[in-house]
Amino acid sequence: MFQLAPSILSADFSRLGENVAQIEKGGADLIHVDVMDGHFVPNISFGAAVMKSLNGRTGLPYDVHLMIENPDDYLEDFVTDNTEYITVHVEACRHIHRTLQHIKNTGVKAAVALNPGTPLSSIEWILGDVDMVLLMSVNPGFGGQKFIPSALDKARALDRMRKEAGLDFRMEIDGGIKLDNVKTVTDAGIEIVVAGSSVFGAEDVKGRVEEFKALYR
Ligand code: DX5
Ligand code: ZN
Repeated sequence: MFQLAPSILSADFSRLGENVAQIEKGGADLIHVDVMDGHFVPNISFGAAVMKSLNGRTGLPYDVHLMIENPDDYLEDFVTDNTEYITVHVEACRHIHRTLQHIKNTGVKAAVALNPGTPLSSIEWILGDVDMVLLMSVNPGFGGQKFIPSALDKARALDRMRKEAGLDFRMEIDGGIKLDNVKTVTDAGIEIVVAGSSVFGAEDVKGRVEEFKALYR
């Protein structure tokens, strides 16, 4: 099942509520929330207060992508009635198994993200503990970057690992996804697709979401 998670990193922050209403009307499935701390990645985005400003204004679930160091210190801030997933980077967690349990204990789904250069073997022994794996197809930190093609082989390999182990975690991809390459990533086993600049950079934001969704009807 294809799900689209537009990243509000590329939204017009002065019209965030309006932008979110547009993606919701277009049929988006999740709101991808990119949190950057200026340490784990070379950029600072926004924190939980901005995300929470949408509470009560949208029925869409939040897909929280924490690109921060020491995520354990901040998890609870991102737990709301709308929060579906909290994703932490394996590279940022000294005790990834403990952090995943911590996320689950807050009552939301737990996910782990891998940078393009991080091998799948780094998560081999926690695959049974995650609800989702997020594969980065750009180096995290900025919207509007070019898709790194090796992410496709990585997705296929993870899909094989998932089948061989008989597991049912979701697979998500993030970075450089456009209308013209989304099919190649879903063919590689991805179910949840993040799209930032290709959605919010469109003249007709709602229409762009509809175009993505129409590819899977
Ligand atoms: C990158 C972020 C992405 C980004 C995607 O660090 O995690 O979610 O916003 O943006 P696009 O779709 O423009 O590559
Ligand atoms: Zn992201």
